[in-house]
Amino acid sequence: MFGWRKQKRADKERALPEHIAIIMDGNGRYAKERNRPRINGHYEGMQNVKKITRHASDIGIKYLTLYAFSTENWSRPQNEISYLMKLPGDFLSTFLPELIEKNVRVLTIGSPEELPDYTVKTVSEAVEKTQDNTGLNLVFALNYGGRDELVQAIRSMSADAVAGAIDPEDISQGTIDQYLMTRNIPEPEMMIRTSGEYRLSNFLLWQSSYSELFFTDTFWPEFATEELDLMISQYQKRSRRFGGIDEEEV
Ligand code: FPP
Repeated sequence: MFGWRKQKRADKERALPEHIAIIMDGNGRYAKERNRPRINGHYEGMQNVKKITRHASDIGIKYLTLYAFSTENWSRPQNEISYLMKLPGDFLSTFLPELIEKNVRVLTIGSPEELPDYTVKTVSEAVEKTQDNTGLNLVFALNYGGRDELVQAIRSMSADAVAGAIDPEDISQGTIDQYLMTRNIPEPEMMIRTSGEYRLSNFLLWQSSYSELFFTDTFWPEFATEELDLMISQYQKRSRRFGGIDEEEV
């Protein structure tokens, strides 16, 4: 009798997530376990970004957002910060041709003002060169913090309200979406954190309200495409109710 409902549910189960966000943690511990300097962990982490991006593109994911540098990461030793600032350039100098070939569009979120000019320049060039691509959107969160993003959004919303461009009474969740750095990017259905930590660490705080969370002990440089596929298949089996109840229970 309720076969159509089951069918509807099955269709939903089969759907791939449109947007996967990843907190790529554990580079330092990966290096430490091998008696290597921490920056080697970041180098290997960057190599894994290539593997996971390639795979996400191949299986048809539309958005992959990667937490590459947070607003809190400035408290790290200077040599590590310098290395992390060079990584986007290293990544793009070796990988941009493949990204273009794969029809990937590069985007960024975060505040560019504090980043070194060479980091901003290489990333902006990649954004520009890939702006018309229609495949995977590869979003780098660089000098990004969820609270910082909300502060900036509230500032510009307040300025628009003072200028009479918006009426405070009309502010809705949709209005807030439009003031965030992720405007025009759908909310992530999946949020993954590697390395056995169970926190969001200021990543996409507003946008992850209903994300399905996935945690693994694997360090980021070792996070394999097979593990990502397993998480995606678990995601497809999870029931997402958004505060409601399952259709079968209606
Ligand atoms: C956290 O691991 C990782 C980071 C702060 C940097 C993540 C950056 C990459 C994976 C490379 C980015 C690549 C591009 C192309 C921009 P951690 O250092 O905190 O590890 P730990 O907790 O084991 O010390």
